[in-house]
Amino acid sequence: YHSNLTDTKSSDSHQTKKLPNAIIIGVKKCGTRALLEFLRVHPDVRATGPEPHFFDKHYEEGLEWYRQKMPLSNDAQITIEKTPSYFVTKEVARRVLNMSKDVKLIVVVRDPVTRAISDYAQVASKRKDLKPFEAMAFVDNSTTVVDTTWTVIKIGVYSKHMQKWLRYFPLGQFHFVSGENLIANPGEELEKVQQFLGLSTVVTNKNFVFNGSRGFPCIKKNLKSKRVHCLDGTKGRKHPHVNPIAIKRLRDFYRPFNAKFYQMVGKDFHWL
Ligand code: A3P
Repeated sequence: YHSNLTDTKSSDSHQTKKLPNAIIIGVKKCGTRALLEFLRVHPDVRATGPEPHFFDKHYEEGLEWYRQKMPLSNDAQITIEKTPSYFVTKEVARRVLNMSKDVKLIVVVRDPVTRAISDYAQVASKRKDLKPFEAMAFVDNSTTVVDTTWTVIKIGVYSKHMQKWLRYFPLGQFHFVSGENLIANPGEELEKVQQFLGLSTVVTNKNFVFNGSRGFPCIKKNLKSKRVHCLDGTKGRKHPHVNPIAIKRLRDFYRPFNAKFYQMVGKDFHWL
């Protein structure tokens, strides 16, 4: 007589799988994995490993399928997942609202020009024959007309995607993380995220060690231990050299969208 949505009991009867309280909805290549790995160090956070892609790819499977993807948690813990494609997928905001009107939404953002090059570097790492970045970002072999049909360019028009989310959720339900500051000052960004999630401040700058050879902060999960955890080599890839004229043109392209985004979310990210 149990309904599909009753909690699945584990061997430890205090732990159940719960739909997420918070979702890192994006943005791809802005530091979403780093944020999730740092947050899961908090004892009151339980997070999925892989990206569930429920709201964009597996929605027909239903909420019970989604819940089963979640880790076991006790009543003091919150459940978090991250799927960066949610931010840019049309139907997702409405579907998320349909699950919960109270879910907290976290968006990591980064200079869209750097984001685009990072995204390209990821694609190029899997495809040896890929055209140069400049050949894909502009139409007609020029560095004048930006190819706004290229997904890598479209993802960075944050204001357009955000406008759509704000039709479904009030601004107060979102928290924005600066991808740049997540690298430069991870403790500070983590403190703000923990506050937003209503968690005690456990993860602070004491948990981070800057790894000079990787060029990124790594996390100490246990302050009493010397062990540090760095993200794998698929994070922090070498970026290709991009023609400075192309970079300038892309900055000019994104500038008005960035300004609109800052205004929309009430926060200036100081991108050039
Ligand atoms: P690059 O590979 O271009 O440097 P995502 O997880 O959303 O795909 O984002 C990947 C980006 O996270 C990386 O892009 C990297 O710059 C950034 N990042 C932020 N903090 C990091 C950290 N501590 N270790 C490695 N990469 C980190």
